[in-house]
Amino acid sequence: MHFFTFLLTLGFALSGVQSIPAPSQPFPEVDPASNPLNAARALPSGDLYPPQPPGAGPGKRGLLYNTESNVEWSNFYVESPYVTYGSNGDVIRGDEINAWFSYVPTITVDAKLENSDWNDTVPILIEGGTKAMFASNEPDNPSQANLTPAQSVTVYKRFMQPYYGTVQLGTPAVTNGGGQAGLTYLDDFVRLCTGCAYNFVNVHFFVDRSEMSVTQYIEALTTYIDVTVPAIQAKHAPLVGLPIAVGEFWLTGASEAEAGALMDELLPWLDGNANVLFYQACGGLFEGGFVDAAGTGLTPAGTAYGGLAL
Ligand SMILES: *[C@@H]1O[C@H](CO)[C@@H](O)[C@H](O)[C@H]1NC(C)=O
Repeated sequence: MHFFTFLLTLGFALSGVQSIPAPSQPFPEVDPASNPLNAARALPSGDLYPPQPPGAGPGKRGLLYNTESNVEWSNFYVESPYVTYGSNGDVIRGDEINAWFSYVPTITVDAKLENSDWNDTVPILIEGGTKAMFASNEPDNPSQANLTPAQSVTVYKRFMQPYYGTVQLGTPAVTNGGGQAGLTYLDDFVRLCTGCAYNFVNVHFFVDRSEMSVTQYIEALTTYIDVTVPAIQAKHAPLVGLPIAVGEFWLTGASEAEAGALMDELLPWLDGNANVLFYQACGGLFEGGFVDAAGTGLTPAGTAYGGLAL
């Protein structure tokens, strides 16, 4: 039984597939020592991945996680028709979310704009089912990737562009900040990145609850996706016609009940918008996000994200 073959067939031949065949189950434990794909701790096994590339059909939702996350909570989303992949801002999958999920790597660089893992690891990830890659994470944010547009161009050309045509590539994920940040940064980057090609525009959208209600946040985000980002795309031929990934979003400081109400209303809109390729709520596998503050259960937002029982 080879889901990997199935995945390749569906993912590459029928990118518009709208349904998710049920994966085999139960999911077997993989012995890391016996599996060559584990060489870079990148993947447990290609066979275990859902036959569903991110973005095709309803499975648009990703799970954000990092070393602080309780990755065991990913088990709640196994076989979800909505949640299909995870990302951790790295190229090493790390302490595993459940092996059922696909993985989307993110390029990070050192001061020399190098990454010593990327070149060896990405081919393994692709062999294991990775369908998309994230470019620099918030290069317009001093506390994140913190790169000038010219540096972002170097990183993109070095690590992303070689995979164009193999997997789906995002633009550097910009914040919704003003001034030289946000879409102004994206504008600068795209103008400088001569010969660069992309498959989706990646934007983040964070607002603090002290500034907006849930209703206002939904209005702001949907306008951003429908109007503001496409206006920037229209200025640059390489961006015209590309779908949008909302790589991270959250109404920070919202109560658990408010975040649940936000998800209930926003997720159907994102799923129904053909221009939204995929998205990741920043609630992720974080306590206070999808997992309650005590670490003992899913929040209303976490429940809604998986389309789980009421
Ligand atoms: C990775 O590959 C790119 C493109 O060939 C190259 O420019 C870069 O130096 C390589 N990085 C390492 C650490 O091998």
